[in-house]
Amino acid sequence: MTAKLLTFVHISDTHLHSDPTYTGEFTTIVPRPGVEAMIQQINDLPFEIDFILHTGDVMTDPQETAEYEMAREVLGKLRWPVYYLAGNHDRADAIQQVLMGRSRDTIRARLDYEFERSGVQVICLDSSVPDPDIHFGHLQPEQLDWLDALCAAPDPRPLVVGVHHHALPLETPWIDRIILDNGEAMHRILLKAQHRLRGVFYGHIHESVVTVRDGISYYSVLSGWFQTRTWHGQEIPQNEPLTLPGFNVVTLTEKDTFVRYYRVKM
Ligand SMILES: [Fe+2]
Ligand SMILES: [Fe+2]
Repeated sequence: MTAKLLTFVHISDTHLHSDPTYTGEFTTIVPRPGVEAMIQQINDLPFEIDFILHTGDVMTDPQETAEYEMAREVLGKLRWPVYYLAGNHDRADAIQQVLMGRSRDTIRARLDYEFERSGVQVICLDSSVPDPDIHFGHLQPEQLDWLDALCAAPDPRPLVVGVHHHALPLETPWIDRIILDNGEAMHRILLKAQHRLRGVFYGHIHESVVTVRDGISYYSVLSGWFQTRTWHGQEIPQNEPLTLPGFNVVTLTEKDTFVRYYRVKM
């Protein structure tokens, strides 16, 4: 058996809301019960993991920083450390202050960071645009420069990248209107690290899809709230009839990358 490097759980789009009756306009489901069931199921996994990667849309359009205290209360029940990304419905400053415990003087406009676990490099990119009415993603030139320096470096470590938006088109017109608008530029940079890149993990689309281009695999994950179903050329959004939340368990060995899909029992 090939030795394991690490295992992490990929969750996304929990869309918690300070109003407990909030359902939004696309579903009749309130988010918190499903998210809490998902957390319980992750905590009950019959094996140890290293961390949770939350690829954003932690909350839906919070007005106040303090609203993230509810997310901290709910997601703080996870037994392992959680690494957060900012989604288009988030506030990157509030995530840093409330969920990551950063002091005010260390909070930055963009939530970009990297860390290492078990010899694996993890890069987290902030693709959100700090305007609550803009839902497509964008990376600033300095963010691409930062990523380029990391990817071009002679680094032997396996690499994992997290970002909220889909970087490559799903060829689904309605959802491609809210794509990472310079995802193609990001992809070209990632090619510099293609030999060690184990996957790009993202959320935003509320569906599990794998896209493989030029030897780089992009994996999305279900939402902690409600699910969509897309297809090639689809013009009108559609929800998945099976509404259960889901998460992915990602295991890296020296040789391989495994992405296992879980649904949450409600
Ligand atoms: Fe979302
Ligand atoms: Fe999103």
